[in-house]
Amino acid sequence: MRAEDDFTRRAGALLRAAANDLKRDDENAERELGLEKGTFAEHASGKRPVTWELMRRAAEVWPLNERDLLPGHDDCPAGVRVMRHEESRASGRVLSRGGEPYYEYRDTAMSRVASYRPEWIRMLRVVEDDDPDNPLVQWNRGHLLYQFTYFIGPVNYYYRWNGVSHCVPMDTGDSVWGLPFAPHSFTSRSATEPACILALTYGGSLLGDAQRELAVLGNTTTRALAVPLAGDAWRPGAMIRSFMDAGAVTVTELADRTGLPPERAGELAGGAALPDAGELDLLAAALGVSVRDLLPPRTETADGVRLQHARSARSWVWPDDGAPAYRMTRLAGDPLHPHTTALQVDVLAGPAERSAPLTTYQHQYLYVLGDEPVDLHWEFAGERVAETLAPGDSAYVLPQVPVAFAAAREGARPRVLLLRISGSVTPEVRYAVGTMAAGGVDRYVAEDRLWYS
Ligand SMILES: [Fe+2]
Repeated sequence: MRAEDDFTRRAGALLRAAANDLKRDDENAERELGLEKGTFAEHASGKRPVTWELMRRAAEVWPLNERDLLPGHDDCPAGVRVMRHEESRASGRVLSRGGEPYYEYRDTAMSRVASYRPEWIRMLRVVEDDDPDNPLVQWNRGHLLYQFTYFIGPVNYYYRWNGVSHCVPMDTGDSVWGLPFAPHSFTSRSATEPACILALTYGGSLLGDAQRELAVLGNTTTRALAVPLAGDAWRPGAMIRSFMDAGAVTVTELADRTGLPPERAGELAGGAALPDAGELDLLAAALGVSVRDLLPPRTETADGVRLQHARSARSWVWPDDGAPAYRMTRLAGDPLHPHTTALQVDVLAGPAERSAPLTTYQHQYLYVLGDEPVDLHWEFAGERVAETLAPGDSAYVLPQVPVAFAAAREGARPRVLLLRISGSVTPEVRYAVGTMAAGGVDRYVAEDRLWYS
């Protein structure tokens, strides 16, 4: 199917799903949307396009947003989207800070399917110390997107958290993962050696619907909904209190339901104490939720970042010691984002060796590091595809698409960077899709008919 036809079909499916949700049959929908008799089904099935005018009208007469009717674009019809080094180089532009050239930016592989904004960046500012207050360092104000950074060459990394500035000298293979809106900067420690980073920014579930919903709800509500995990504002038991609010449950009622003494129930609800494993079971049963819903995530960030030096990074072979295809090295990440994984892959498999496909539920970005080309093999929609990627080439891979790497040259050891992230399909969504009634999945992704008859 042509991408354009597919877009039209998915737009139709969203229109049908909206009409179904609002309990409108074709006749009602046609009357309210000002459509000719018999045409709603044609729009909903993709036979006729859903025009801007139709979306505008729907958003006017029905309690929904234009955005609810807009499908995403599929710019990855082959499962993998490659961006060549030449194309990256052509996108190069120098950005100045404080009136002087500071960075050269180049785009690398991006897709409309995932929230990656990955840039290759060369440091143009050279410093001779690792002083975070060096006046040559130009700081940004921080940005919304999470940032995973992979270092190539003698790069100084600067970050600021709660007004305190830090500088860490980094080198090839070092990496860092950082939280949104923390100011940061990068410089080079050498006027002759290349000093670059791969700045792989991404929004994950912070972008899209969540951001739009919170923008409408406003500052005060967003602050009230935020759950700090450390610092002065941290108070344990946030989710216990949320579920108590949701169910209008008092401390007395919580004590009654759990069988805990009222003082203890009060401590757990107020955040004065943390529940033990047995109490978690009691609380979950009492509130009608799962234990996981009551547990906060863990973070290992210090001052907003997680640093991982190459010298202390964990490394192992895959799939097994007997016939390893890759040496994997674990790069920076944090338990706060369990669905983000960064790996450095040293490819041990030679050109003619058996392929060792890697599959993940995540969106996947890859960049060819070093000087050696690599053969990329993948399987999509029943077809096997292979491409040779040169150093500096990058690619985006759809979730669940198996990819395998092999050296393009006998005896070579190519190196690939992988950054895997989740998008809007959180575990909540995966569980929800997995518990639909029979036939539900197909209808969820492409509802095109009335919900009855
Ligand atoms: Fe950044």
